[in-house]
Amino acid sequence: EQIKKGSYDHFMQKEIHEQPHSLTTTMRGRVKDSGVLLGGLKEKEYLKTIRRSRRLVFIGCGTSYNAALAARPFVEELTGIPVTMEVASDLLDRQGPIYREDTAFFVSQSGETADTLLALDYALENGALCVGITNTVGSTLSRRTHCGVHINAGCEIGVASTKAYTSQIVVMVMVALAVGSDQISTQVRRQAIISGLSNLPSNVSEVLKLDTEMKELASSLIDSESLLVFGRGYNYATALEGALKVKEVALMHSEGMLAGEMKHGPLALVDENLPIIVIATRDACFSKQQSVIQQLLSRKGRLIVMCSKGDASAVCPSGSCRVIEVPEVADCLQPVINIIPLQLLAYHLTVLRGFDVDQPRNLAKSVTTQ
Ligand code: G6P
Repeated sequence: EQIKKGSYDHFMQKEIHEQPHSLTTTMRGRVKDSGVLLGGLKEKEYLKTIRRSRRLVFIGCGTSYNAALAARPFVEELTGIPVTMEVASDLLDRQGPIYREDTAFFVSQSGETADTLLALDYALENGALCVGITNTVGSTLSRRTHCGVHINAGCEIGVASTKAYTSQIVVMVMVALAVGSDQISTQVRRQAIISGLSNLPSNVSEVLKLDTEMKELASSLIDSESLLVFGRGYNYATALEGALKVKEVALMHSEGMLAGEMKHGPLALVDENLPIIVIATRDACFSKQQSVIQQLLSRKGRLIVMCSKGDASAVCPSGSCRVIEVPEVADCLQPVINIIPLQLLAYHLTVLRGFDVDQPRNLAKSVTTQ
């Protein structure tokens, strides 16, 4: 086992640091200057069927659900098709409507999660086109779906998913580029994202240099009982996923929150002790996040702000927040960058608090029972 971990102490740590490489393999042979080529969707004109869908339904559990949520704004923008999010178990509990005119995307690292597979059976019975996004070639998910895209992130061993998350987002972005490739009005936008994808592994290498800074931040949070993470837009999913990482491995209560909902409840929790991470990197929501920060500061909130490089004084003019500066990339790819400091934070918090990083209490890598 130690040989497989190489110079790392834990699989989770190794998998976090592997992301420049795993993202490269996810994109290998698929991202060209002229567009995106996804062999798994080419056959039988699947792309055309997806384009004609009345709705796209994204289905998954845990981190895989969060990856789909991160991709949702961009998929809607580039395809013009509405996206509905479904946690697999909730779709089953409600027996929610799925139609023949829907395309259902099933996102699962293992391809063996029981709830996701049951939701797949349900969508197949209801006549939807079913697309699998998985890391596991030959898995039940990849065999039972009509078509799909493998994320090719390499084997993930740590129970807490890290590199699969970023590769899942990139695959969903590639799917959006492929489905939207017939639209002339978005051509310039698509081209900008394609060049953003090519630079992404080097941007990820850069953000990984925050490792020591995240370890220091973790040591300042080691005794906290709770941690909130506020995000919105492209980075609502980052808030959910960052909080999930902290909760599942560091065994610290943590909640990801939609910043737009702050006034409708979470604001009551704010005081000088509760640490709050606010994600405020540059995108169309930036000024709204600046105002969230001001409102939290006026209630004496203990803030840690994630912002784009060079924006420290723009997000926190008073200098009273702790700031994490990350490289700025195309807005829809920013969630891939922004989750990495939070993965590092969760990792270091876990080690410092003395918990098992790769086998968190009560959790399994793949939940194959309902
Ligand atoms: C478990 C794992 C999570 C994972 C989730 C979904 O809860 O601990 O890391 O995100 O299952 O797994 P899947 O294989 O379907 O992505």
